[in-house]
Amino acid sequence: MELIDTHAHIDMLEGYAEYYIEQAAENNVSKIIIPGIEAEGFAAIIEIAERYKNIFFELGLFPTETLKWTDEYPEMITELSKHPKCVGIGEIGLDYHWDTSFVDKQKEIFIKQIELANTLRLPITVHDRDAHEDVLEIIDKYNNGSEIVFHCFSGDTEFMKRITERGYYLAIGGVVTFKKADILKEVAKEVPLDKLLLETDAPYLAPVPFRGKENQPAYIKYTAEEIAKIRNISVEEIAEMTTKNAEKVFKI
Ligand code: NI
Repeated sequence: MELIDTHAHIDMLEGYAEYYIEQAAENNVSKIIIPGIEAEGFAAIIEIAERYKNIFFELGLFPTETLKWTDEYPEMITELSKHPKCVGIGEIGLDYHWDTSFVDKQKEIFIKQIELANTLRLPITVHDRDAHEDVLEIIDKYNNGSEIVFHCFSGDTEFMKRITERGYYLAIGGVVTFKKADILKEVAKEVPLDKLLLETDAPYLAPVPFRGKENQPAYIKYTAEEIAKIRNISVEEIAEMTTKNAEKVFKI
């Protein structure tokens, strides 16, 4: 069995990357993608990806950090994206949960980064927190050809259908194991298997039985097991499909 963690902030974990990567390998995690948050962190994630064979990275400016955008960003991302381990633009999008005081800036920078991903022919990892309608509207209007992944999907089944109809993917994380996550469990049951990816979003959102603790890629198996249980299929089948999808989207 082989699992891919399409979204793990290895650079934000408390201990050494080496430890988590070993733990992941022991738990059938074959590949891990580290998303970018802001320019200051790019060197660290690139360094980890260079050190380990099956670790990849993405570049992007996180929505709540968009006030840090400068005119140098597109050129810097373009240059760094030539790295063979760079597999996407992310995580980018809209976050209305923490702060809505600069929504226009978030939108402007989301659009700029979508256009950049299109130019670079890279997939896009979307961060959508309490912003479903605006995120979808912007993608519909501005995306031209990049594969789209909704990371840590938080919509309902109806929204899931709207994005998968468009050919977009969604990644489900540890939240699906939470007792009260009825809406996400329903999504996990109904989502077409050829549009499903797995992720941890480590160090955040650890699945049961580690809820509330530091998350890590090795724990992705609990999410895979939960989805298999919900769909009444084997965990091997979930692993095979989600691995195939991740390899296709990110060309890894
Ligand atoms: Ni993240």
